[in-house]
Amino acid sequence: MLEIMNLKKYFNKTKAVDDISFKVEKGEILGLLGPNGAGKSTTISIISTLLKADAGKILYKGVDIEKEPKKIQNELGFVPQEIALYPSLSGYDNLKFWGRIYGLKGDKLKEKIKEVSQIIGIDKRLNDKVEEYSGGMKRRLNIGSALLHDPEIIILDEPTVGIDPQSRKHILDSVKEINKKGSTVIYTSHYMEEVEYLCDKICIMDEGNIIAKGTKEELIESISAEEKIILQVENITGKMIENIKKIPYVDKIAYIENEITIKKKGNNVDYSEILEAVSKNQGHLTSMDIKKPDLEFVFLALTGRALRD
Ligand SMILES: Nc1ncnc2c1ncn2[C@@H]1O[C@H](COP(=O)(O)OP(=O)(O)OP(=O)(O)O)[C@@H](O)[C@H]1O
Ligand SMILES: [Mg+2]
Repeated sequence: MLEIMNLKKYFNKTKAVDDISFKVEKGEILGLLGPNGAGKSTTISIISTLLKADAGKILYKGVDIEKEPKKIQNELGFVPQEIALYPSLSGYDNLKFWGRIYGLKGDKLKEKIKEVSQIIGIDKRLNDKVEEYSGGMKRRLNIGSALLHDPEIIILDEPTVGIDPQSRKHILDSVKEINKKGSTVIYTSHYMEEVEYLCDKICIMDEGNIIAKGTKEELIESISAEEKIILQVENITGKMIENIKKIPYVDKIAYIENEITIKKKGNNVDYSEILEAVSKNQGHLTSMDIKKPDLEFVFLALTGRALRD
């Protein structure tokens, strides 16, 4: 549906986007994950035709967006990072304003406002002024204003920054619902949990480059990270370690002072066998931690930095 090829955008010496390529298939949710300044907003501004690339090409349904910008513009809903609303108007009037821009009017407009306000969960506050809304409600209305014309493709730029967990959950679920109704979604974020929860495919961006792309599982596999089990045990004995070693899913085991680290193999894991091996050897377990590799882990492995530096 969308093909980004060798895209570049420099601001003086800053390589905001430095030769990136990726594809977005119809019906999927694609996540652009990366820290501040990675180049996410620049990338999606170019896709939305708000900004011109220095080099590269973008095809939307096979059409070059630079040559025929109208094609993508008509079918796109863009939710900017900054909130674009009229605070002194009601939620309803804000949606009406945006609906008219998209050429909707009369009953059709009313119908769409009703539908959209239900999706974003502000239908009960629609007649209140936006300046009386909470931060989360403003964010939701900001999203709603990009949905009125049934866009085929929706691009959201970090729509959950600075809001409470409940509103955040609501936004994520709205995005899922919008996608289920048929829209293709591009979602940027620096929260790996959001991208893990939402996205079919993920591009990890850093300093203008895409440093990895794939499904969450593919990304984790690509760095061959494995789940580890870490136990804090008082009175570790050689016999205890021997017993744990014999458990079929235990691949490797290491211990130092009061800590045992187990690398497992396979998915058939019954943790009680470990606990048994500890207790029958008079060990005293004080904590057990299962570390699953996640996208944060992938980012760390690829860049040597934490995602949220
Ligand atoms: N208009 C501009 N003029 C100069 N530099 C810019 C401009 N827009 C972006 N940049 C620079 O390009 C780089 C990428 O910025 P961009 O906004 O695309 O990052 P981002 O991934 O969206 O970050 P954030 O998570 O903070 O929104 C940054 O170094 C930024 O300072
Ligand atoms: Mg940004």
